[in-house]
Amino acid sequence: MVNHFQYRDGVLCAEEVRLDELARAVGTPFYCYSTATLERHFKVFAGALPPGSLIAYAVKANDNLAVLKTLAKLGAGADVVSGGELAKALAAGIPAGKIVFSGVGKTKAEMRAALDAGIHQFNVESEPELAALNEVALAMGKRAAISLRINPDVDAKTHAKINTGKAETKFGIPFVHAREAYAHAATLAGIEIVGVDVHIGSQITDLDPFEAAFTRIGELIASLRADGHAISRLDCGGGLGVPYFHHNSPPPDPTAYGAMVTRVTKDFGCRLSFEPGRLIAANAGILVSEVIYVKRGDAKTFLIIDAGMNDLIRPAMYDAWHEIVAVQEPAPGSPRPLYDVVGPVCETSDLFAAARPLPDLKSGDLVAILSAGAYGAVMAGDYNARPRVPEVLVSGGQWGIVRPRESHADLIAKDRIPDWLSG
Ligand code: LLP
Repeated sequence: MVNHFQYRDGVLCAEEVRLDELARAVGTPFYCYSTATLERHFKVFAGALPPGSLIAYAVKANDNLAVLKTLAKLGAGADVVSGGELAKALAAGIPAGKIVFSGVGKTKAEMRAALDAGIHQFNVESEPELAALNEVALAMGKRAAISLRINPDVDAKTHAKINTGKAETKFGIPFVHAREAYAHAATLAGIEIVGVDVHIGSQITDLDPFEAAFTRIGELIASLRADGHAISRLDCGGGLGVPYFHHNSPPPDPTAYGAMVTRVTKDFGCRLSFEPGRLIAANAGILVSEVIYVKRGDAKTFLIIDAGMNDLIRPAMYDAWHEIVAVQEPAPGSPRPLYDVVGPVCETSDLFAAARPLPDLKSGDLVAILSAGAYGAVMAGDYNARPRVPEVLVSGGQWGIVRPRESHADLIAKDRIPDWLSG
């Protein structure tokens, strides 16, 4: 999908904002998000889906309140997986009636908060969770609207750490036990069965696994109706991949995904919901960093930048490939030496890219790590006592700091000295 990070007058810009000027104003490293890109991704996806579908943005991809509010204004709902995400979605103005609660380990306190808010539905992932939800709902004098997340035993053909639809993963209720689970749910007075939920993984670049999963779920919906359950909703999950590589075969376009879903589900008689995260946020964000040193080793040249694996963990955790560009546009035909792009963290895996051709760079130059808007800032930590970096949202020519940089004082203030050590 198109994004709004382009060179203008020789400098990389976020929409109309020059990133060199932004770096001077906020310091490096920083995350930068583009409103126009978020909006475009949401609208293209919404336009590809059957009318009336609910798009419950997967908050885990990027939970910044300003990002959530941008999406809320477009009519987005939210897929949340914790009490914290629920609180953030509500605080950003996403109506409770558009919030679905997913995740394998919901606590009773989280269930109470969600029932109190009056969310759209719970996607329940196990029989013990169903029993707990029933108990909580009954104690509150409510009925919880639920879909059971069914594990269709389909291989999403993505990275093993984000493949969730196979029988051996922890997610969902096994397909073969689905009918008995629904039969049991129907006996619980605090539970109202409304639908079925399926989510098979993330960064899926092939439509076939989706089609296989939705087809299997369609057969299940027919059996469940034959068993007497009122199934009116299908939650299709998230997981559609995005292009990270400019040179590999691109994942299917959202319109192709939408056309496939429309075709496969047309006779299901269900209102559809979707939980896209990466698709909306990944290419709407970048991480801007400054080169600290260019270190010439025997075998390699290391570009040591001021962002580290604690700021963006995807390369270290999933061997993820992120495009890296210089903020100053290189002259056409200029040399592209190979660099290992690394951070300052004391781990060999603090490596953003190996043997990457980049323009000649020197200390003080700025680089941007692209496609960092999803699973970037949300997965950051403060390892090596590195304060969390700020997040900036751009809209046209305007920008605002939507999460300030942490200071050393902030880090120190998080800890407490027990009595026996103080004084
Ligand atoms: N719904 C459920 C139930 C999920 O577990 C997820 C992602 C989504 C929706 C959103 O999936 P998406 O549309 O973003 O693919 N940290 C990893 C990705 C983990 C995905 C976890 N679940 C990464 O950086 O690649």
